[in-house]
Amino acid sequence: MKIEEILVQAPVVPVLIIDDVADAVPLGRALVEGGLRVLEITLRTPVALECIRRMKGEIEGAIVGAGTVINPKMREEVGAAGAEFCVSPGLIEGATPDDGVPLLPGVATATELMAGLASGFTRFKLFPANIAGGVGALQAFASPFQQAKFCPTGGVNAKNAADYLALSNVVCVGGSWVAPTDAVKAGDWGRITSLAREASALAPRAPA
Ligand code: 3PG
Repeated sequence: MKIEEILVQAPVVPVLIIDDVADAVPLGRALVEGGLRVLEITLRTPVALECIRRMKGEIEGAIVGAGTVINPKMREEVGAAGAEFCVSPGLIEGATPDDGVPLLPGVATATELMAGLASGFTRFKLFPANIAGGVGALQAFASPFQQAKFCPTGGVNAKNAADYLALSNVVCVGGSWVAPTDAVKAGDWGRITSLAREASALAPRAPA
């Protein structure tokens, strides 16, 4: 699947930081059960690649991706682990949409957006969304950059997600709020499914 297709599978992409590999599969299953099937496992813990491998192999219906991919080598490594897409907080120098695992690059300014468009990308993570101008910045980008669509991430939560999703150039949002650390540590998968259910009911979404 291309990144455009992946981003319209659910309104919210959970951003996951998994410390204990044993949590990966039950956490992913809880999210998928709640309707969030696109999962971003960040490369911020030593077990992240193993989590991607297990989630990819064991969770039916999940689209498993990697986050915090900040260079071409990491893009290759997550591809080898089975990631179906990857997300970067910024632009990876030299990267293009077709030279590896489907990539969602991050941007925070018009100049970065123009560099990403010049490399062939049309889908971007606005990061950190709340600091980089939030809803106002996305509205301002809509007219000059009509070919660009966004997944704002960073400071997005249950309270403001609907404001972002109502924008014509937002296809989905990303965030960690659907998998709170205390719920993961406690193995409270029911709570995570219920947060995912609320998040997956969020709409409308912009047409891809
Ligand atoms: C990310 O990694 O993309 C963001 O740090 C997630 O931000 P959040 O924790 O504010 O949702």
